[in-house]
Amino acid sequence: MENSVDEILKQIKEEVINLKESPLYSIRVQNKVFPVIGEGNHQAKIMFIGEAPGKNEALTGRPFCGAAGRILTEMLDSIGLDRKDVYITNIVKDRPPDNRDPMPNEIALYAPFLDRQIDAIKPKVIATLGRFSMAYIMERLGLKDSLSSISQMHGKTFGAKSTFGEVKIVPLYHPAVALYQNSLKKDLFEDFKAIKNLI
Ligand code: URA
Repeated sequence: MENSVDEILKQIKEEVINLKESPLYSIRVQNKVFPVIGEGNHQAKIMFIGEAPGKNEALTGRPFCGAAGRILTEMLDSIGLDRKDVYITNIVKDRPPDNRDPMPNEIALYAPFLDRQIDAIKPKVIATLGRFSMAYIMERLGLKDSLSSISQMHGKTFGAKSTFGEVKIVPLYHPAVALYQNSLKKDLFEDFKAIKNLI
C-alpha cells in the first residue's frame, strides 16, 4: 500500500533531523536549535517555499515565524487564507550561520527533501519566496529557459508539468524585502492577488 502523505512527511522529518552529512548539522547541534521541516495543511493546494530558516525559525522549528513571517501571514490574510490552509517550507532546512545566503552545496543536499514534500502534497500552485527557491523550482520543473531576474518574474504565473500533473509556479519577492522597501511590499500584496485567482 502507498504511504500516506502524513507518513511521508514524518519520514522526511526523521531523515532531516539525522542529516549528519550536512555542513549545517553540527552548527544546529552546537547551538541546540532545530531544523525547520515545514508546516501547514498536508493536503494544501498551495505551497510556499522560502530559502532557509532564520534565527527565530531555528529556535522554534517553525518556518516564517519571525518578522518576515508576519508579512507572509498578513499577505495570506489579505486574500482570505490562513496559514493552516497552506503548506509553508524552505529549500534548506537548517539555518545558515549569520543569515548568510544558502550555498549551492547546501541547496543540493536539502533540495531532494523539498522535492519529496512537493510530490507528497501535490499542490496546484507553488509560490516561491525569493530568488533561490524561484531558481530551484523553475529549473526543477523544466522551466530553466524562462528564468530571469526576480524583478522581471515576480507575480507572473508559469505552467509546468510535474510527476503528479499540472502545477502553476508563481515567483514572489521574499517577504523580508517588504520590511525595508515599501514599494516592493506593494508589489508583493499585488502579486498575491494572482494567487487568489489560481486556487
Ligand atoms: N526566511 C526564509 O526564507 N524562511 C524562513 O522560514 C524564514 C525566513
